[in-house]
Amino acid sequence: MLRRGDLVAFPTETVYGLGADATNDQAVASIFAAKDRPSLNPLIAHVPDVAAVAALCDIPPQAAALASAFWPGALTLVLPLRANSGISQLVTAGGNLLAVRVPDAPIAQSILHAAGRPIAAPSANPSGRISPTSAEHVMAGLSGRIDAVIDGGPCPIGVESTIIGFADGPQLLRAGGVPAEAIEACLGETLAPAPTTETPIAPGQLASHYAPGAAVRLNAVEADNEEFHIGFGEVEGKISLSSTGDMVEAAANLFRLLHQADQSGKPIAVTPIPNRGLGRAINDRLRRAAAPRG
Ligand code: TXA
Ligand code: MG
Repeated sequence: MLRRGDLVAFPTETVYGLGADATNDQAVASIFAAKDRPSLNPLIAHVPDVAAVAALCDIPPQAAALASAFWPGALTLVLPLRANSGISQLVTAGGNLLAVRVPDAPIAQSILHAAGRPIAAPSANPSGRISPTSAEHVMAGLSGRIDAVIDGGPCPIGVESTIIGFADGPQLLRAGGVPAEAIEACLGETLAPAPTTETPIAPGQLASHYAPGAAVRLNAVEADNEEFHIGFGEVEGKISLSSTGDMVEAAANLFRLLHQADQSGKPIAVTPIPNRGLGRAINDRLRRAAAPRG
């Protein structure tokens, strides 16, 4: 189906992606249509291994170090695109930098090997909404707009990949499944924060993103009866991201619990989450979920 230009959602270890042949303009365009995604937002190309990345992009030394430490895995690198890569211009939004990732999930690996070409895949949700961590989430948002979804059960990591760029030294463009601390330890260097510009490079940087339908209140140690309370650690809540305070478990549960809370029809209150390790990615997503809608 991917080879003939269809849209196929599939599980990765982070979230479900909405896949299309990254070398087929028509197929890539249909991703934007299915998601209602502003067409200037570039997409991540997924490939099975570093050799396939090297066929598409130049890999500077710091990127090579991160690639060997964290691929396959929850890391996306933004790299200079080589001439004649065959990648559709829609994937890079016409630019000369490509975001690439080598995912680790066995189903994603099988699909990428079988497809034999790079697969563009944003998270498989309508633009601006919560990322899907199950096939049910994908269908809830995109049923009737895509050709298939591969059901591989829940995603083990549950937040999107960490995105690193290399303009003027390594930059954290999006906090994600690989903690920024681990990347800094690997590089022996501090990551610069993402540049704040009028037009954000990554729409994951838009203030209101990953938004549930309901209002979201943060740092809520207590909630009133009207609210659906999401707990963590000692704060029980109606439902907990992790009752043992385990950050990895909390990340894996995050989007599923937000979907569930959203379905209750009540406003959502979320207890404070410590800002270390994966907590940084979790808090980033929660802030965007709570941001006023534009
Ligand atoms: O974990 C993930 O990264 C998932 C799975 C499916 O791989 N994908 C994902 O894709 O989260 P998406 O499209 O929802 O988020 C990708 C982010 C966007 O914020 C996009 O703007 C940014 O990556 N991005 C893509 N290409 C870029 C580029 N050339 N330069 C800078 N940012 C880029
Ligand atoms: Mg997304």
